[in-house]
Amino acid sequence: MPRPTQFHDRLRGWRAIVTGAGSLGDGVGTGKAIAALLAGEGAKVALLDLDAERAATTLALVQELGGEGLVVTGNVADPADAARMTGEALAWLGGLDVLVNNIGIGAAAGQLHTAAEADIERVMAVNLGTVINMCRHAIPALLEGQGKAIVNISSVAGMRAHGNTAYGPSKAAVIQLTAELAVMYGRDGIRANCVSPGHIVTPMVEAHLHDEGRRLRSAIAPLGAEGDAWDIAQAALFLAGPESRFITGVNLPVDGGVTRIGPLAAYDMARGD
Ligand SMILES: NC(=O)c1ccc[n+]([C@@H]2O[C@H](COP(=O)([O-])OP(=O)(O)OC[C@H]3O[C@@H](n4cnc5c(N)ncnc54)[C@H](O)[C@@H]3O)[C@@H](O)[C@H]2O)c1
Repeated sequence: MPRPTQFHDRLRGWRAIVTGAGSLGDGVGTGKAIAALLAGEGAKVALLDLDAERAATTLALVQELGGEGLVVTGNVADPADAARMTGEALAWLGGLDVLVNNIGIGAAAGQLHTAAEADIERVMAVNLGTVINMCRHAIPALLEGQGKAIVNISSVAGMRAHGNTAYGPSKAAVIQLTAELAVMYGRDGIRANCVSPGHIVTPMVEAHLHDEGRRLRSAIAPLGAEGDAWDIAQAALFLAGPESRFITGVNLPVDGGVTRIGPLAAYDMARGD
């Protein structure tokens, strides 16, 4: 999907936090695309990331779109750092309407019994722990906001098994946590929803996946293509904004249909039958 050029002020006056908002260089990952769309629609956006340089590239895009952003650097997987970062973000934003939990890292290498314990713990702490940390610290402000939306970024790897150590289980936990939040805070007016990206081209994928892998990702999708970060951002924007006011607790796969296709149909498609 091309980068959107037209906006409609749908979030004018809203305040948002996006975690993992950085992206490598000119590339566009999901956090960068989400932050850009929220800002394009008028929201002030706090950009939380481990890496100041990566977050700065997102800030430049936010500003190019006429939006306002603030980079807050630190480790969201660390509860104390997450508290500090949320505090800095809220002090600048002056309140909170939307929280987007986008941080995620890859699988621990090896089978479960050979993978390093520290790697397994890290994947769980980053993929699930960052969502828990941010919700704990940001929900008090969300309760006072007008938007009251949480959008978590999971993965199709949390919906079907890929033989991953820790990544799939951590992402499945994010989907379940989203449903729990929806039930726990529904009466307070907070909506919590999840987006599960499928095969998405991001800078990380372009750098690491070989050509045959890229071909197969498209070949087994009913829509016959990979998606990009803007596809994910459009779904996140919808779930963050007022148009989805009656939707909570859902997990929306944005995957070209890969989670709906049966294995034999995927096999036929991959062979070109
Ligand atoms: N790229 C895909 O194909 C794909 C597919 C399915 C799901 N996802 C999910 O989408 C999300 C974004 O993926 P991406 O490929 O754009 O990622 P990315 O690696 O390009 O960007 C993630 C950002 O998060 C930051 N980050 C990582 N750990 C952090 C921490 N502890 N504290 C603060 N910042 C931290 C990184 O510095 C980076 O800038 C992840 O949750 C990922 O699991 C991606």
